[in-house]
Amino acid sequence: MLIRQETKEDYAQIYDLVKTAFSTIEHSDGNEQNLVTALRNSGAFVPGLSLVAEIDGRIAGHIMFTEGKVGQDTVLILAPLSVLPEYQQQGIGTALIAEGHKAAQELGYQYSLVLGSEQYYPRSGYRPARGLGIEVPVGMPDENFMAIKLQENAKPIKGAVTYAKEFGI
Ligand SMILES: CC(C)(COP(=O)(O)OP(=O)(O)OC[C@H]1O[C@@H](n2cnc3c(N)ncnc32)[C@H](O)[C@@H]1OP(=O)(O)O)[C@@H](O)C(=O)NCCC(=O)NCCS
Repeated sequence: MLIRQETKEDYAQIYDLVKTAFSTIEHSDGNEQNLVTALRNSGAFVPGLSLVAEIDGRIAGHIMFTEGKVGQDTVLILAPLSVLPEYQQQGIGTALIAEGHKAAQELGYQYSLVLGSEQYYPRSGYRPARGLGIEVPVGMPDENFMAIKLQENAKPIKGAVTYAKEFGI
């Protein structure tokens, strides 16, 4: 498996992949593939943090981290994360998160936030964001809104979360 930054040539394949990955899940608005396109065209986009997992020349998974804010501080928001159904349960999602964190650390980002399964993200180091002083956005369950500190000496952050407007939150 090769994890690398996405390129323009990947966009169509990523669109289909995200659509397929989310098509079967309950907490989906069916719009995640359009969110990827919108975020890519937004000021929140970080080219080095939109990654694909390639297996035998086929893109099996995709992850995107974009910029948001906690109070006045810039943080990353992990969303969405997608693995094609036939490639799930092989560690690809976990590997994409780990590579994304590594790239984010190198770029100097201090925190990443995610709204997702409290069964899944803690294995990649995420913990309830409230414990770090981050205000959970209205309507999001405490246990599903998580954060990870990416740098050991990250300065404490606190306050309300601002998502890129493309999220519509
Ligand atoms: C969630 C997703 C990215 C995981 O990718 P993956 O490559 O299959 O994950 P990994 O192989 O790294 O990890 C598999 C483990 O995570 C668990 N897991 C996977 N998805 C989960 C979920 N939604 N909730 C809880 N646990 C989950 C699996 O049961 C498995 O557990 P095990 O190791 O104890 O058997 C993939 O299932 C997917 O694309 N789902 C549809 C889109 C989606 O829900 N994205 C996340 C939105 S927050």
